[in-house]
Amino acid sequence: MAELSSAEQAALGSGADFWTTKQVGAVPAIVLTDGPHGVRKQVASSDQLGIAENEPATCFPPAAGLGQSWDPELVERVGTALGRESQAIGVHVLLGPGINIKRDPRCGRNFEYYSEDPYVSGVLGAAWVRGVQGEGVGACVKHFAANNQEHDRMRVSADVDPRTLREIYLRAFHRVVTEANPWSLMCSYNRINGVLASQNEWLLTKVLRDEWGFEGVVVSDWGAVADRPAAVAAGLDLEMPGATGTTDEELVVALSNGTVDPAHVARAAERVTALAIRTTQAHREDATFDADAHHQLAREAAARSIVLLQNVDDLLPLNSSDRLAVIGEFAEQPRYQGGGSSHVTPTRLDVPLDEIRAHADVTYAPGFSTDGSGDAAALRDDAVQAAAAAETAVVFLGLAARQESEGADRTDIEIPAEQLELLTAVVAAQPRTVVVLIHGSVLRIAPVAAIAPAVLDAALLGQGGGAAIAEVLFGRVSPSGKLTETVPVRLPDVPAYGNFPGENGHVLYGEGLHVGYRWYDARDLAVAFPFGHGLSYTTFEYSDLVVETTDSGIQAGVTITNTGRREGREVAQFYVSLPGSAVTRVPQQLVAFGSATPAPGESTTIQATIDRSDLAYWDIRVDRWVVESGEYVVSVGSSSRDLRANAAVVVAGDEVRLPITLDSTIAEILRDPVGAQALGGLIESVFGTTMGEEAAGADMGAMLGALPVGRLVGFSGGRLTRAQLEQLLVAANPD
Ligand code: BGC
Repeated sequence: MAELSSAEQAALGSGADFWTTKQVGAVPAIVLTDGPHGVRKQVASSDQLGIAENEPATCFPPAAGLGQSWDPELVERVGTALGRESQAIGVHVLLGPGINIKRDPRCGRNFEYYSEDPYVSGVLGAAWVRGVQGEGVGACVKHFAANNQEHDRMRVSADVDPRTLREIYLRAFHRVVTEANPWSLMCSYNRINGVLASQNEWLLTKVLRDEWGFEGVVVSDWGAVADRPAAVAAGLDLEMPGATGTTDEELVVALSNGTVDPAHVARAAERVTALAIRTTQAHREDATFDADAHHQLAREAAARSIVLLQNVDDLLPLNSSDRLAVIGEFAEQPRYQGGGSSHVTPTRLDVPLDEIRAHADVTYAPGFSTDGSGDAAALRDDAVQAAAAAETAVVFLGLAARQESEGADRTDIEIPAEQLELLTAVVAAQPRTVVVLIHGSVLRIAPVAAIAPAVLDAALLGQGGGAAIAEVLFGRVSPSGKLTETVPVRLPDVPAYGNFPGENGHVLYGEGLHVGYRWYDARDLAVAFPFGHGLSYTTFEYSDLVVETTDSGIQAGVTITNTGRREGREVAQFYVSLPGSAVTRVPQQLVAFGSATPAPGESTTIQATIDRSDLAYWDIRVDRWVVESGEYVVSVGSSSRDLRANAAVVVAGDEVRLPITLDSTIAEILRDPVGAQALGGLIESVFGTTMGEEAAGADMGAMLGALPVGRLVGFSGGRLTRAQLEQLLVAANPD
């Protein structure tokens, strides 16, 4: 840094163009590009909206699909493949993973995120980072933080209380930063409690670096910087895309008039330099990738991401000898990713209809058009005829590309009405109907599940989705995906209803900790399909739950037996609760998961290590994580609402000693051994009696307990003086 002028240091901290940093002296330029489910390197002109043409790259399932695999090992392999493609395509930093919490099903970008649950998001996000960085390519975890909607995304303030922020919205980032050591992280566009993420010193420096030990580069989301000197002072290192150098000049002016600390500019330049050196040294000029192998991996990942929502009378899997009517435009014109900056140009594309045809005899009818073209009644009639003439109908329903994209939220969660009308008519003509749902964010599925015996959730599956759907339909793969988001019965049931997307520049996170299943469980609300739900073609029994405390938390184990006749993989989910907690708690929260694939009739044990940190809550009195002492209940099951066993275990908590002040209540002082002794002694010396419910009478006990000790001066009619209470404080606060 000493060799660089302040202008050069400033220049290092902003991009040369949309996707490249500047070469300054001996510091090489590097390429950063999207991400997250494929490498999107634009061929010529640059834009971040996915308009310009991209180099072909494997399109893996977007997070909404891949998350449903609940398979960190698979996500890591996908990350490895993405890292190899980045190397081959000339990318140094891949912009992903997206680990924001799905706060509301209407968020337009939910397809890019894993879950409503911070544990799932963190575990899978960390796996992605390990995979990509293992290939010498930097990850860029995004969007930090509380970026949970698209409406007014560049200005809106997410107004979140500190406990919710820590326990829900920062928790996945914390896990990824501390477990996977990402080389960079992208700050979000929005404000958090009034302060832009890009200028938020608390977020970018105090929390991210001082508390979590992050050592990488903080990159701005594209265009997120409003005031570069303020952003640099807060801890931002690299502004993208770069504003053609104008903010470099602003920074130099700020340096010369002393409004920015030169050390802050130097530290940003130093971090960008370290990233540029690290990634260019790891870059392999001769790297190539095996497009066939990656396509196979995309298929495998897609198959593992499919969720079997319902399967009445074991309609699925289908037989190859069945004559099928395949209905729905999505079968022929696959929809496999969302719109916006993550839009990848695939190396090839499996078409579900072709893949199904490879297994069975098929008649196809589009049934509807997503763009409103064609005669709806005629399309429907043709489909109904095809269904009636076949032995089984497979109907693809879902959302069109324009309905799910970066930059806009949805206003409802409905499946288009004409598609539901079509389904009703098809089911009337052909009761053996399977529905395949294609979508990147939650839909109101209840009307479908009410009439179709079998429903597969195919989310968005990337370029291998077509083959994967066929493999699951015909039982070549037994479905093992699980929902990472609750499917509500109706929109007014969702946690943020009434607080989404906010107004006048603010969105209040009024549901607090009660996000996703935490909300539905606390309110005891019926849901269409619960968080963690997903069936298989076989069945599993849970037995022998063993739970014990360890120094680092809780160790749990459960035996899974395949009680059906087919192979299958089960994802067992471990939830904890703490009945009688002293603070507000959600009824249960996911703390571990694991999977097993026992052969029919066989059993496997799944072990789960539950870290103490996952039992902790954020204590706003002391501004830190605290494990409460108590008897924790560990439940294990096949979904959040299909729990098969539970066991209690006593955990010794952390000590939280708050200073005793005149505002401390008598009950609080009595709970503290030192305070209790000091107060007891004082009361006895003044009143000649001991303190406590016996002395005050049981009904007075609660009232007395709630009394701030300082008020005793008045209540004692002057017998206790303020000076005596001041002495009490000295005795009660030995530290
Ligand atoms: C998105 C980011 C993306 C960036 C670059 C922004 O609009 O929010 O997720 O990485 O563009 O394309």
